[in-house]
Amino acid sequence: MEIIDSAEIYIDDVVNIEHSNPHPLWSKKNFLDSLKCDDFFKIALSDGKVAAFIVSKIMGKECEIINLGTLPKMRRKLLASKLIQELINFSKNKFLDQIFLEVRESNDAAINLYNKFGFNELGIRANYYQRDKGREDAIIMGLTL
Ligand SMILES: CC(C)(COP(=O)(O)OP(=O)(O)OC[C@H]1O[C@@H](n2cnc3c(N)ncnc32)[C@H](O)[C@@H]1OP(=O)(O)O)[C@@H](O)C(=O)NCCC(=O)NCCS
Repeated sequence: MEIIDSAEIYIDDVVNIEHSNPHPLWSKKNFLDSLKCDDFFKIALSDGKVAAFIVSKIMGKECEIINLGTLPKMRRKLLASKLIQELINFSKNKFLDQIFLEVRESNDAAINLYNKFGFNELGIRANYYQRDKGREDAIIMGLTL
C-alpha cells in the first residue's frame, strides 16, 4: 500500500468509490475542483489500484476533512486510518491548530474511526443531511493538534 497525491488520472476511480455510497455527495467535477484548489487530496493505492481517498481543505490555521472514502471491498484494512494519519502529520508540520469535519449521526463506521484518533464532538447541525426518508443531523467533530 502506498499513499500518493491524487491526480486527474485517478479521478474516475475516486468517483467510483464515492458513488459506491448510498448517498454520494460529490460529482467528478467536485473532485477535479479540489485538485485545482490545491486541497490536501491523497489516495491510497493497493496493488497499484485506488483503494481509498481523503480530501481536506486548509483554511488559515485549521483544516476540514471534506471527503473520505474507502472502496467497499477494501474496508477494515486501516486505509482510511493511514490517510487520516497522513493528514495529521501534514497539519502538524504546517503548525495548524485543529482538524474538523462533519459526519452523519448514523455513520457509526466514520464516528468510530474519528473517535479512535481522539476527535471530540463540537456540536450538531440539525437536519443537515438528506436521507431516504426525511433528514438527519450532522455531528461536527474536531481534533486539537
Ligand atoms: C468510514 C470509512 C472511510 C472507513 O474506512 P476504512 O478504510 O474501512 O477504515 P479503517 O480500516 O481505517 O478503520 C479504522 C477504525 O474505524 C472503525 N470502523 C471502520 N469501519 C467500521 C465499521 N463498519 N463499523 C464500526 N467501526 C468501524 C473501527 O474502529 C476501525 O478499527 P478496527 O477495524 O481496528 O476495529 C469507510 O467505511 C467508508 O468509505 N464509508 C463510506 C464513506 C464515509 O462514510 N466517509 C466518511 C464521511 S465523514
